[in-house]
Amino acid sequence: MDKKSFSVIFSLVALLVITTPVFAAGAAALEHANVNIRDTAAIQRGAKLFVNYCLSCHSASYMRYNRLAEDLGLDEELVMENLVFADVKIGETMDIAMRPADAEAWLGAAPPDLSLISRSRGADWLYTYLLTFYQDASGGWNNQLLPNASMPHVLWQMQGIQKPVYATHDGVESIDHLVLAEPGLQSPEEYKDSMRDLATFAEYLGEPAKIKRKNVGVWVLMFMALFALLSYLLKAEYWRDVH
Ligand code: HEC
Repeated sequence: MDKKSFSVIFSLVALLVITTPVFAAGAAALEHANVNIRDTAAIQRGAKLFVNYCLSCHSASYMRYNRLAEDLGLDEELVMENLVFADVKIGETMDIAMRPADAEAWLGAAPPDLSLISRSRGADWLYTYLLTFYQDASGGWNNQLLPNASMPHVLWQMQGIQKPVYATHDGVESIDHLVLAEPGLQSPEEYKDSMRDLATFAEYLGEPAKIKRKNVGVWVLMFMALFALLSYLLKAEYWRDVH
């Protein structure tokens, strides 16, 4: 290796070493949702949770109900019956009736559209956010990932009530972990599964074409494998005469 390429490689490695802890620090607090975009049943369960618990405040205005039906292999009538509560038609987008100005007055902040939340924040962020609501000393809701969030814990009956346990590091008091002070309708494991479903739905929402793309990808790989095999056999056939 000459001197120049050595120094290039050296600086690349150095850059990696320097930047790694920065990324790691930002991501350290996130729990892994391990979403599987091909798990259609999980997306369906997540969609149901979304329309029941989130759509009253958050829209998903890039998604149409009929697209949802098609992608999830659901009958349109079934979607109308199970997922559409508002007075809307199958071809409409997942919008809300609340006006942003009213929402801001009632809640302190306008609930953002969640169509692209998995892209802006990531599925793991959403998953962790939904796991880390707690009741603070004043009896109000707060969130460990988004401190002083204006969103109430809309799933508290499902999860139960978490309370913070504080610890002091270097003279600074901060939340060490959360404990389940009052159990909810679901066990902690069940609640995590439900939030994984919601995060899976959000991942799908962020890029509906992903399911199709991944399926196409498998066929492309299978084609390439077959093509490689055929090319090899062809090569062997040609070279038999040469030898
Ligand atoms: C009562 C209305 C309401 C409901 C219901 C609700 N939210 Fe929210 N949500 C809010 C408000 C208000 C904010 C803005 C919080 C802030 O910025 O302080 C918010 C913020 C969020 C954010 C953070 C967005 C960001 O990038 O900062 C996410 C993610 C979110 N909500 C997900 C959900 C999910 C998932 C559900 C259903 C389980 C849900 N919300 C139900 C009102 C609501």
